[in-house]
Amino acid sequence: MLITSARAAALYDRVRSLIPPIEWPAFTGDIDAILDLKRQRNAVILAHNYQTPEIFHCVADIVGDSLALARKAIAVEADVIVLAGVHFMAETAKLLNPDKTVLIPDTQAGCSLADSITPVDVRLLQQRYPGVPIVTYVNTSAAVKAESDICCTSGNAKAIVEALGVPQVIMLPDEYLAHNIAAQTAVKIIAWKGHCEVHERFSPADIRQLREDHPGVTVLAHPECPPEVVAEADFSGSTAAMSDYVRQKKPARVVLMTECSMSDNVAVKHPEVEFIRPCNLCPHMKRITLANIREALEQNRHVVTIEPEIAGRARLAVERMLAV
Ligand code: 13P
Ligand code: SF4
Repeated sequence: MLITSARAAALYDRVRSLIPPIEWPAFTGDIDAILDLKRQRNAVILAHNYQTPEIFHCVADIVGDSLALARKAIAVEADVIVLAGVHFMAETAKLLNPDKTVLIPDTQAGCSLADSITPVDVRLLQQRYPGVPIVTYVNTSAAVKAESDICCTSGNAKAIVEALGVPQVIMLPDEYLAHNIAAQTAVKIIAWKGHCEVHERFSPADIRQLREDHPGVTVLAHPECPPEVVAEADFSGSTAAMSDYVRQKKPARVVLMTECSMSDNVAVKHPEVEFIRPCNLCPHMKRITLANIREALEQNRHVVTIEPEIAGRARLAVERMLAV
């Protein structure tokens, strides 16, 4: 018997197209333990679309892009939130749930964009461009959010920039996202120079090769990709927007220019769509595993804390975003 419990067997149905039966027993002990621990601790697991399928489909309660995770975090009724994603996502959940325990299974799960800018950099930008509103991508530390007027995600960046009703904004830290949004709006955007280490590696040559190797393929690119990549793609949008595109348009063949687990997680629901899979792994997202989610719940670690003075100002920037 490869499957160790009836509960795990039912869950296996969700991932059988991705996880071979011989590998499944390696997951079942942790899955069983996590499901029990969630009940015991009145905990929920929020998982980003880049989490591996056994996390995304077997233990997560709420899944989505950064915007959905922030929106849904407000409505969570549990005592404990485990954030299966990267550190800035856990901080956002904590900002929106100051009285709950928020856990991140690995404190090293960072983000190259969040690391690309400090609060001092933001203050220098404010001095250089007095009066120009600062729109900060959620992929930043709470301390950087605290220096900002409003946050945005890849799912709402254009709407946020335009909602401010000003001719010019500073958008940080993702240079490519800023340029990709600038191409869609009349608002002038001053960018920073941060890049996502996963998406910056895709090139227009990759897309041309894919189209040659896989005739008719539909190319979807995350807006953290360089503008030349987005220009050659058929569609660009957040991870949730890419998922919606596949659900609504059901392309015969598709490639998602983004993190590898994204295709896995979407493909499970669309056996009729052929997913072509050149992709790049996010080493930070991949630090989260079933084993450390289990440990997080067993040992109540690692508790996310944010200095109250920073939290108050950072929360305002996130709440302003959610109000748009
Ligand atoms: P989404 O908000 O589109 O899910 O993107 C988050 C992220 O980190 C992409 O690299
Ligand atoms: Fe950060 Fe890029 Fe990883 Fe997203 S994929 S968490 S932007 S490094």
